[in-house]
Amino acid sequence: MAKPRTYLTTPIYYVNDKPHIGHAYTSLATDVLARFRRLDGHEVFFLTGTDEHGQKVEKAAKDAGEDPQAFTDRVSQAFRDLTVTMGFSNDDFIRTTEPRHKAACVALWKVLAERGEIYLGDYEGWYAVRDEAFYGPDELTERDGVRYAPTGAPVEWVKEPSYFFRLSKWLPELLRRYDLPEGHPERIDIEPESRRNEVRAFVAQGLREFGEGSPKLDLSVSRTSFTWGVKVPGDEKHVMYVWVDALTNYITAAGYPDTSNPRWAFWPADVHFVGKDIVRFHTIYWPAMLLAAGLPAAKRVFAHGWWTNEGQKISKSLGNVIDPVTLVEEYGLDPVRYFLLREVPFGQDGDFSRKALINRLNGELADALGNLANRTLSLIQRNCEGKLPAEGDAAVGGALLAGVQALPGQVRDRLDRQEFHLALEAIMASVRDANGYITQEAPWALKKTDPVRMAAVLRHLHTALRCQATLLQPFMPETMSALLDQLAVPAEARDIAALEAPLPGGTPLPPPAPLFRKIETKAA
Ligand code: ME8
Ligand code: MG
Repeated sequence: MAKPRTYLTTPIYYVNDKPHIGHAYTSLATDVLARFRRLDGHEVFFLTGTDEHGQKVEKAAKDAGEDPQAFTDRVSQAFRDLTVTMGFSNDDFIRTTEPRHKAACVALWKVLAERGEIYLGDYEGWYAVRDEAFYGPDELTERDGVRYAPTGAPVEWVKEPSYFFRLSKWLPELLRRYDLPEGHPERIDIEPESRRNEVRAFVAQGLREFGEGSPKLDLSVSRTSFTWGVKVPGDEKHVMYVWVDALTNYITAAGYPDTSNPRWAFWPADVHFVGKDIVRFHTIYWPAMLLAAGLPAAKRVFAHGWWTNEGQKISKSLGNVIDPVTLVEEYGLDPVRYFLLREVPFGQDGDFSRKALINRLNGELADALGNLANRTLSLIQRNCEGKLPAEGDAAVGGALLAGVQALPGQVRDRLDRQEFHLALEAIMASVRDANGYITQEAPWALKKTDPVRMAAVLRHLHTALRCQATLLQPFMPETMSALLDQLAVPAEARDIAALEAPLPGGTPLPPPAPLFRKIETKAA
């Protein structure tokens, strides 16, 4: 039977500066879903990469006194290194300066031009290089003679010949698709719902103000005032607008324009993971371009919230950028991965604090999960000659086992909705149940009074731990691999389906070792 396919993407990050915690966060969420889907029997294509053209990057290279290609080679490598540091399982890493990508951009442009979706005109308006975005006059505020976009980026007046994309033509169709019911093949799903409402209101407002088909609603898609970009086919004075170039990466990596490439079977993407800053590009421009080219639009865009650092916006000028490499060195990779997805509901803004990270690590990982594993496995070593007891009376497992049975389905449902924090909460609730169960049954005391019950209790605890560890693998791959080793679960029995097949009684278990190192904090 053919496996179901899942295509997941992160934004491709600008190489104007080195990666920080915000970039690591988006890619982490994508990685966790990719890993879960693989464990759940899907064939997965997980894409990340770097966005290397445009004025912003050109300027960063100039400021660094480097040639743009040498500069982007260097900074892109830092993002590639981050995938290793963070344990990301991406299947491809795309750079927009690669030949395959330029070819895809040119091919898509030609299709749009042939279909009459692109025309030549003049652009006159406000542009923010920092956002690589155009803004309408009503969106701006003025301070000391400088105008600013709502994002705080300064804007400049641009007037130059430009190609336009007939975005206006597609807006009513986008509105129709945003509102199709869940599961409809043409639905463009924007999550969370608050973002969907914002996008819908923005599109509807534009249509009201200018009228359907107004050129005012079309998108300027080329520039002539600089050269660091993909040249427009047939008119090489123009380079493509960096967002047209950037968004195309998602089909480049799927083989476009070669639709006989086996990777093309992954398109349309299942989820584009993005931050809330780039929702418009992914939910308006991108699906409109695809529909105009006769291609299917991605199924879903999930926009997560913004991390601040101890209450402050993360920014280079404030000098409070959180370096994921330092964090991983200090606390270990898996605790950092766990914390980022556990602490803040995915979709909402969150505040990074070391204290909160240490609390999660000490309380939930070391005390709750680590101790559960250690107590259970030490008792099996000591009281069962280090061998897994055979499955005993199910009645002795009671509520704990019922909860464990239901857990994989719950986690799958949560992750299908990108509710990472709720998936973790469900697993941790099961860990708490198991800790309650061990205290209540006190298997250490049963050795003399009721060894049969003791064996059944320890077996049930092993069953619970195996299920929890299996489901935690996408979040904490290294540590859960170590725990599954300690639980003697063979490498080929670590996926979701394998939870249906119990391990044989008598399986020898290796001696347990601590999974997490607690961080000592000075008493406040
Ligand atoms: O926008 N909190 O690239 P970019 C959470 N090249 N997430 C954050 C964050 C924070 N404080 N800071 C950054 C671009 N991010 C374009 C994308 S896609 C075709 C082109 C994350 O380097 C978040 O995912 O500015 C945000 O959307 C992304 O980094 C922006 O990265
Ligand atoms: Mg940005």
